Amino acid sequence: MAVWRTLPAMTAFPITRLRRMRRTDGLRSLVRETRLDLDRFVMPLFACPGEGVVNTVGGLPGIAQRSIDEIVREATELKALGVAAVLLFGIPEEKDEEGSGAWDDDGIVQRALRALKAEVPGLTLLTDVCLCEYTSHGHCGVLRPTDGGGEVVNDETLDLLVRTAVSHVEAGADAVAPSDMMDGRVGAIRAALPETPIVAYSAKYASAFYGPFREVAESTPSEGDRRGYQMDPANVREALRECELDLEEGADVVMVKPALPYLDVIRAVRERFDCPVWAYNVSGEYAMVKAAAAAGHLDERAAALESLTAIRRAGADVVVSYWTKELAAWL
Ligand code: PBG
Repeated sequence: MAVWRTLPAMTAFPITRLRRMRRTDGLRSLVRETRLDLDRFVMPLFACPGEGVVNTVGGLPGIAQRSIDEIVREATELKALGVAAVLLFGIPEEKDEEGSGAWDDDGIVQRALRALKAEVPGLTLLTDVCLCEYTSHGHCGVLRPTDGGGEVVNDETLDLLVRTAVSHVEAGADAVAPSDMMDGRVGAIRAALPETPIVAYSAKYASAFYGPFREVAESTPSEGDRRGYQMDPANVREALRECELDLEEGADVVMVKPALPYLDVIRAVRERFDCPVWAYNVSGEYAMVKAAAAAGHLDERAAALESLTAIRRAGADVVVSYWTKELAAWL
């Protein structure tokens, strides 16, 4: 009888030994599947006009609108803590119907980029490409008609988004992240910027979890909502389709947003595509834990580390998170 026939049947990986390893300091990390490395996290920053301004806004504890000098100071600190990348948003001096502050060569994000490039070399600079912080009505695109009851017009908006992305790159952005959800925006930006990395917010849902962000970014729509261009939370197959289209149009990275309520979407995208997959741990996810911790109901550090681990475990290569700075201290 051949030797192999006398061997016991293959069993599953012996779970009792695995459990023992997991309980033992020094062995635990050898069987850990998911890790939180700081270079897999991106810190959002909000630039605003003025000097010496650090304007905290209630809904998002620990996060502030910062004037350019203060952004530079914060970014210097982040870099020293080991944070590798930041994602810039801007709160302009003035808003208008078209959001012209978004592509102004002397706009808030463009000036912040130049200052950061000069004063914090080596920090990777990403920018959010969208109009909602710059339009008087707070929508991510141009509204037609403009005198009430208007709808976002897709194609007219594309031009403005391209101008915005180009001006960011000219000012020093290392990568652009279009978050507007207009159809065809990745292709339009790719045509104008053949070499620039594009991190596409591909599966961006019309979510209630953006509330605190909109307070800080001052981008709450004055009327209507974003369901016309952001995704229905009920859909996952559509998310795969959106990712596929963005990749065809030239995206380098696809992003799922929000993260925690959409772990299944992250997993599905991870399994379908071989490109880098990012997730945005949005303001509401962060603010909920902060609020519960402030009320003494849970341990913030433990809850945050568990949340971020879950997002990475679901399949996200990189996480955009407001916890990035604190994470640097925790790790
Ligand atoms: C801009 C944008 C939003 C967020 C990132 N980019 C808000 C929105 O779509 O309303 C949300 C981020 C967060 O909640 O942390 N369109």
